[in-house]
Amino acid sequence: MKKNNLLVASLLTASLLWACESKKSESTQGTSDSLKIEQSAFGKVSDSTQATLYTLHNAAGTTVQISDFGGTIVSWTAPDKNGKFDDITLGCDSLAGYQKGVPYFGALIGRYGNRIAKGQFTLDGKSYSLAKNNGPNALHGGLKGFDKVLWKATPIEGEEPSLKLTYTAKDGEEGYPGNLSVEVVYTLQKDNSLKIDYKATTDKATVVNLTNHAYFNLKGGFDSDILDHEVTLNADKFLPVDATLIPTGELKPVAGTSFDFTKSSKIGARINDTKDEQIKFGLGYDHCWVLTDSTKNLKLAASVYEPTSGRVLEVFTTEPAIQFYTGNFLDGTITGKGGKVYKHRFGLCLETQHYPDSPNKPKFPSTVLKPGETYETTTVYKFSVKK
Ligand code: BGC
Repeated sequence: MKKNNLLVASLLTASLLWACESKKSESTQGTSDSLKIEQSAFGKVSDSTQATLYTLHNAAGTTVQISDFGGTIVSWTAPDKNGKFDDITLGCDSLAGYQKGVPYFGALIGRYGNRIAKGQFTLDGKSYSLAKNNGPNALHGGLKGFDKVLWKATPIEGEEPSLKLTYTAKDGEEGYPGNLSVEVVYTLQKDNSLKIDYKATTDKATVVNLTNHAYFNLKGGFDSDILDHEVTLNADKFLPVDATLIPTGELKPVAGTSFDFTKSSKIGARINDTKDEQIKFGLGYDHCWVLTDSTKNLKLAASVYEPTSGRVLEVFTTEPAIQFYTGNFLDGTITGKGGKVYKHRFGLCLETQHYPDSPNKPKFPSTVLKPGETYETTTVYKFSVKK
């Protein structure tokens, strides 16, 4: 009897997985049926818990797949100048790939995105110690950050479908103080943009810096690096770092440096400028740019144009800064979706956020969240084409 149940269960899982794979290559034509949020099994998190893959469509034909494991964007299609849809984010075909340990492909990052020096900070006179998971520093929320937990998902169907994800991080989890209730809502909008609304509240003073870690390659196909992508960053300063990628505290004007993206520039043009110590430290670009518009308005922070496909990605955010990372640590050891090998600089990240190491830098905008306050930020990634 038990064996039969097992057989039925595995056949069901296999068919769901197959369905998930075949859905990925489907081009959705925007009928009301296709606007439904589909759910399929994504893999086993533990003996008693399963991860689910949610597929969101819009009438324009874009598909975004998000898992409740890590709130991860697993795939995301965007049209090229001929109307052909391709997946433009790096990731894995199944949960097992993510569990093997990948560098945060598409995941939600928290409680504190980016680095905290020596995994330590003091808040209200009390010192907190975090795991040092990146050389001497703490990175992206710790050993089991928000990218590795199972979120509670609520799909909300409609013309602009949403996936609401909630997670409560416990007081002391990964060393951070306070029970932190987090809500992230992904909304696939009609204009081919994906809006991400982040919210958090706490019962004890804590530090919060949430972001998403999607790796983009706008060419589609994952057969080449991102060096010919043309990038504009609406930022007139960046944060120089030390050899362990912790900001020195200086806000340095980009003018006259290899970090000036105020006018559109090919990533490859200056990425190997070895005379620049900052490029050497980052092994390329792996720095936080301070947006010229420091208001909390939703403003254009970055845009990327890929000439072969004509795809354009614009990033709008309420945050004060953006980490531009050019996949310098990708080295061909990870095989991702469809058996594609992710080689050096095959993806770029535009992680909207507060400055790294703010908990140790009183002059940086504060990342402290107190009881009674609500952390609230929004980032929008919008696709279009230039012919
Ligand atoms: C960091 C990189 C790191 C990458 C993956 C980025 O946000 O800035 O240094 O290698 O995440 O962990």
